[in-house]
Amino acid sequence: MIELKNVTRRYQQGENAVLALDNVSLRIEPEEFVAVTGESGSGKSTFLHLIGGLDKPDAGEVVVNGLALQIASDKELTEYRARALGIVFQFFNLLPTLNVLENVCVPLEFQGIQFREATVRARQMLHLVGMEKREHHFVHQLSGGEMQRAAIARALVHRPKVLLADEPTGNLDAANAEKVLEIFQRIADERLTTLVVVTHSTEVAETAERRIHLRNGILEKRVGVSAGRRVTV
Ligand SMILES: Nc1ncnc2c1ncn2[C@@H]1O[C@H](COP(=O)(O)OP(=O)(O)OP(=O)(O)O)[C@@H](O)[C@H]1O
Ligand SMILES: [Mg+2]
Repeated sequence: MIELKNVTRRYQQGENAVLALDNVSLRIEPEEFVAVTGESGSGKSTFLHLIGGLDKPDAGEVVVNGLALQIASDKELTEYRARALGIVFQFFNLLPTLNVLENVCVPLEFQGIQFREATVRARQMLHLVGMEKREHHFVHQLSGGEMQRAAIARALVHRPKVLLADEPTGNLDAANAEKVLEIFQRIADERLTTLVVVTHSTEVAETAERRIHLRNGILEKRVGVSAGRRVTV
């Protein structure tokens, strides 16, 4: 479970202070699929970075599966990111000198999993995202949609409890965005992980179980249907 309690994040730029998140509180249930929408600069990436332990709040608490990230040690945060978290970025972030299969194996290697087992698990994930026929391709030999599907396989291969995605269809044409969206739908249907996706796309937002909207760092109250229950954020 992900819990934010009165979270505020302020960035100081010289004389100017930007209130990127303003007293945000919410709870995301295990295996829930949540879409985060809002205008450019509304605090979406900041929100994701705080859940990912990549940034810390100035006030409030961010608790993921019982770990309070704002007071966790560097060692605990590294462990959290390596084991409990998968992240998909807008620009894919695949390593260009590795082929697809090797890219997907990277999170497992971090955990000291042997090459043979890592490749078995990586191939399962490539199959899940429909990329089993591309495992020997290097990044420059892939389409944008294929890059993003490989990046999703890599983010999922170590079975994270939480998958965060920041504008995962932002650089894709409609056909490729549709394929990526189907994969997220499948991840949600099979309840593989908690899914938090930042998006400008209405299609993605409508696919999610719940949509939360940020406006100038403030979380707008909305009611949505989540996992068969009605929930208020
Ligand atoms: N490291 C930083 N230093 C200073 N200001 C920052 C920093 N990161 C973000 N901001 C500011 O905080 C606000 C929220 O930024 P954030 O990246 O969360 O927005 P966003 O909703 O993800 O926008 P976009 O849709 O354009 O990606 C913006 O006004 C931004 O300029
Ligand atoms: Mg952003």
